Amino acid sequence: MRILGIESSCDETAAAMVADGAQILSSVVASQIPTHAKYGGVVPELASREHLRKIEPVVSEACRRAGMGIKEVDGVAVTEGPGLVGSLLVGLVYGKALARALAKPLAGVNHLEGHIHAVLLENKMDRLAGKGVDEAQLPAVTLVVSGGHTSLFRVGEKHPAGNSQPVVFNYERLGQTRDDAAGEAFDKVARLLELGYPGGPIIDQLARWGDAEAVDFGRIKMRGKLLDFSFSGLKTAVLYRVRGTALAVEAEERRAWRRPRHNASTAELRAQCSQATLDLIASFQNAVARDLVERTLAAAEAAQVDSIWVTGGVACNSLLRARFAEASRSRGFRLLVPSPALCTDNAAMIAAAGYHKLRAGQAADATLTAHASLPLGEKQDSGFGIQDSGKMA
Ligand code: KG4
Ligand code: ZN
Repeated sequence: MRILGIESSCDETAAAMVADGAQILSSVVASQIPTHAKYGGVVPELASREHLRKIEPVVSEACRRAGMGIKEVDGVAVTEGPGLVGSLLVGLVYGKALARALAKPLAGVNHLEGHIHAVLLENKMDRLAGKGVDEAQLPAVTLVVSGGHTSLFRVGEKHPAGNSQPVVFNYERLGQTRDDAAGEAFDKVARLLELGYPGGPIIDQLARWGDAEAVDFGRIKMRGKLLDFSFSGLKTAVLYRVRGTALAVEAEERRAWRRPRHNASTAELRAQCSQATLDLIASFQNAVARDLVERTLAAAEAAQVDSIWVTGGVACNSLLRARFAEASRSRGFRLLVPSPALCTDNAAMIAAAGYHKLRAGQAADATLTAHASLPLGEKQDSGFGIQDSGKMA
């Protein structure tokens, strides 16, 4: 079953062809970073217009790279939310019209569900390629950490009609951010320090030259649930260390330096950063990574699962990946983190999630529409009622 996936929830226009939810035949991602970089963040109106321009060529390219004609598609999967409505609508309407014209089934996919399926998809591909990896085990606690989301889910599966029949996945949300997403915090700190956009990858690179222990931001305390997140306080703590100091003057100078140099290399950018700036971002990154790892491990322990999955754009972060690997090893969890291209927004993950939906008989009808907010697993939001004592291991 070859599914065409379409993703346009934010600033990437993406299309992919995936066979049986297990093999990527093609995956095309047209990034809008150059369009939004000069504004230091995504401008929704510009994003929708660019999706309109790109959607057709991106879908055609996905077919071409897969060596397929559009009529050979067995189904279409589109992101229905959450995201920017104007952006979502472009992919959704295109996918809906295509499915209708081809008389093929259509699946609406929650973007977060897509990120979760990136883990399963890569695991299946690795096994098919004989890489000797074990099958991904469910239930698993999954951290979806990106520019728009920071949420913990317990992901389970059911075989309603026996083991050989299609799987139905279930998602229980254990916690989520109460303010900024982790990726948003990276992007805002980078903007404050005039380092460029998107901030996550830039901070990841520059932080290697900084001392992660130089600034002690302390632990992030959550009043109420331990499995929720909050990054706006940390972002404000960075702001207070910059505002009215030499670091702010330095950031202003960097802004002027960067203006004609949007493509400056990391080495060139680093030369424009004082050691104090490098130490500050390394310490910030350290605080974010520590918090994400600790809460995810606490969730896995509370949910009594053996597997931890980490996915979403921030899962590309090298420190975060190393910390998760270290903590999972020492505490006996099996960790799965997709390769960076599958962590950031892509349409292969949407096609993979859509494949399972179509197999399970969950095709969408003509009423499918875009939703700016579309909760996943909300009804069973238990979070195990764990209170944050401020003393996580
Ligand atoms: O999953 P994604 O492509 O889009 C959303 O669904 O939001 O994630 C984009 C986010 C951005 O905030 C970006 O700064 C962050 O992921 N990101 C990173 C890294 N690579 C991307 N954050 C930290 N370290 C990275 N290496
Ligand atoms: Zn995403």
